[in-house]
Amino acid sequence: MQILHTVRQLQSYCHGKDIAFIPTMGYLHEGHLSLVRQAAHLNSEILVSIFVNPLQFHDPTDYEKYPRNSEHDLALLSRERVGAVFLPTVQEIYPRGYPKIRLWHPLMAELCGKYRPGHFEGVLYIVHNLFMWVRPRYALFGKKDYQQLRLIQAMNEELSLGVQIIPCATVRDKDGLAMSSRNARLTQEGRKLARIIPLALHGAAKLAQEGASADAIAHFFSEKLSSFRWDYAGAFDPHTLSPLRDKNSCQNALLALAVYIEGVRLIDNVLTNDKEALNLLEKLVGE
Ligand code: PAJ
Repeated sequence: MQILHTVRQLQSYCHGKDIAFIPTMGYLHEGHLSLVRQAAHLNSEILVSIFVNPLQFHDPTDYEKYPRNSEHDLALLSRERVGAVFLPTVQEIYPRGYPKIRLWHPLMAELCGKYRPGHFEGVLYIVHNLFMWVRPRYALFGKKDYQQLRLIQAMNEELSLGVQIIPCATVRDKDGLAMSSRNARLTQEGRKLARIIPLALHGAAKLAQEGASADAIAHFFSEKLSSFRWDYAGAFDPHTLSPLRDKNSCQNALLALAVYIEGVRLIDNVLTNDKEALNLLEKLVGE
């Protein structure tokens, strides 16, 4: 497994290769590794990038507190079929300081975009540049970050980047909580509290299956989350990501929420027509 530190090294490694690319911010867990394992079926060289991108953090404390451990990450990746890891410094990515150019898309006005100004512009900037350097055939992204996935698909199509974007299922811990590098910031007590997230999602998915309206689902979430701080929780249009209202049916909806546990912002979602994802929730948190 090669370790690449500079853009030049990255470009010369990728030149002429069929690449399956997995961009990450490190502090790797089974969710990231499931993307690597899925990439192993694609008959391409697997490239993982690890870069905590300062441009996508609108809160400097969140950036500083973001967990990092590249030695452990490399040890985990060396056990998988990974050809190379790109591990650049901030200086390498932003040698002229932060860029002023921005990509914007209407999907950014919804969900997390409302609460994290500049976040998705930062994500698209880095993913766009990584795509330009790597020129991957495939790139794998988790459905855990559904809005991010949708924005990257939109960028890829609308700018004709020619990458095959592969969405991957959300990996959950035994208690149902979606794996996230941010979970490492929770105390044992916080970890127990966080179980409310998959529980609320599961409960809302059941209501949706029984034909509940978007209003009823929003009401259910606000009751469940009444003792927590949260940015949004409800049923959304899976294409436009805008909130479903009133008597809208939720048979084909995105159920999504962003909740703070011990000051750590956690997100999760499920599509009400994603049988596999619903079965997993049922298995882990169903009564
Ligand atoms: P990061 O949060 O490290 O996530 C890297 C990739 O792993 C993303 O595609 C994310 O959706 C996926 N992932 C994270 N947790 C997952 C889980 N529990 N199950 C399945 N997939 C999961 O997302 C980013 O980094 C950054 O924004 C990035 C795209 C790298 C740009 O900086």
